[in-house]
Amino acid sequence: MNKDFEVTPYKVTGEIDYDVLVERFGTKKIDSDLLDRLKKHGPLHPMLRRGIFYSHRDLEWILDEYDKGNKYSLYTGRGPSGPIHLGHLMPWAFAKYLQDTFKVKMWFQLTDDEKFMFYDHLTLEETKKWGYENALDIIALGFDQKLTRLFLDTEYIKTMYPTAIKAAKKITFSTIRAVFGFDNSNNIGSIFFTSIQTVPCFLESMEQGKKVPCLIPCGIDQDPHFRITRDIAEGLGYYKPALIHAKLMPSLAGSEKMSTSTKMDTTIFTVDDKKTVKKKIANAFTGGRVSVEEQKKLGGNPDICSVHQYNTYFFEPDDAKLEKLYSDCKAGRIMCGECKNLLFEKVWKFLEEHQRKREKAKDVVEDFFIRD
Ligand code: TRP
Repeated sequence: MNKDFEVTPYKVTGEIDYDVLVERFGTKKIDSDLLDRLKKHGPLHPMLRRGIFYSHRDLEWILDEYDKGNKYSLYTGRGPSGPIHLGHLMPWAFAKYLQDTFKVKMWFQLTDDEKFMFYDHLTLEETKKWGYENALDIIALGFDQKLTRLFLDTEYIKTMYPTAIKAAKKITFSTIRAVFGFDNSNNIGSIFFTSIQTVPCFLESMEQGKKVPCLIPCGIDQDPHFRITRDIAEGLGYYKPALIHAKLMPSLAGSEKMSTSTKMDTTIFTVDDKKTVKKKIANAFTGGRVSVEEQKKLGGNPDICSVHQYNTYFFEPDDAKLEKLYSDCKAGRIMCGECKNLLFEKVWKFLEEHQRKREKAKDVVEDFFIRD
C-alpha cells in the first residue's frame, strides 16, 4: 500500500489511498446503515451507491435533525481560477440531488479572493470574471433559484466580515501552518483566508437568527478548512458544520502525473465543441492491450481505465449497464475504440444540453446572486 501521498486544499500529491485518508483526517466512512437512512428520502444517487461520496462528518446528526423537522442548509463553493471542466460538475450535480431530495437552501460561495491570493498569474479582476463565468455552469445544473444563493466573496464581504474576524481571532498561525502546510513565505492573505471559507457555514443561522445545521458536500481535499471551522463553531455560537466528502474526480489521462499540456488535451471543458470532445476522449488513457488480438484474448483492464472511471462517476448511471461494460471489457468482448465512442455519445449528449442551459443561465444569473 502506497502511503506516500498528501492531501490539503492547496496540494494533492501521490496516489491517494482513500481509506487511509479517512483515518488520517478522522472522518467516517459512509456505511450501509447510513445509506439505508438516506434511501428513505428518495432513490440513492449513483455517487452514493458507488462510493464516490464515501466519507462524512456528522451526517447521522444532520438526518436526525431533519427527521425532527429541523432542516439543514447546504453550503459548497468554487474557486474561480479558470473554466469549468466535467470533473468540477460532478460534486455539484450531487449537491443538486441533495437540494432536490431534501428541499433545502444552498449557499454557493465563489472565492475570487482565494484564487487571487493563491495564484501569481491571476489578477482580482480575472478571478471575479471567472466567478461570473463559472456561475453560468453552476446555474445550468438546475439549482432551484428560490433556494440558492450565489455570491462572490469580494461582493458579499460586508455581510461576512464581522463573522470572519470573529473566526480569525480563534485561529492561530501555528494551526494554519500545521493544517495547510504553509510556511513563512505564504502571503498573509492566504493565512487569513480560511476564516472567509468558514463564514458560509453560518450564513443560514445568521439570516434566521437561530442555530441552523449546515451540510457541506465537497471534495475531501477541502476537509482541512472545515476541521478548523468545526473546532471554533460552538465557541462562536453555531453548530459544527457536517460534511459529506467525495473522492477527487478523475481525468482522462488516468492517474499518472500530468504536465500542463497533457492536462489540456485530456480535460473536457463545459464549453468545448463536439470535435474537441471527440478528440479528447479518443486520446483518453485506457486499460487496453497493445493489440486488438491480445485484448480479445486477454481482455482489458477497466480498473485502471479512465473511460471506465468516467462512466462510473457520471456518465453511466445504470448499474446493470455499467457492470456489463466492465465484464465485457475484462472478457475481451469490447474494444477500447467502441467503448470510447459510447462514452463520447453520452458526454456529448450531456454537454450539448448543458451548453444550451448555460446560455439560458445568462438571463437569470442576476436572480441567483446576492451582494451586500
Ligand atoms: N476553496 C474551494 C476551491 O478552491 C472553493 C470553496 C469555497 C469550497 N467554499 C467551499 C469548496 C465549500 C467546497 C465547499 O475550490
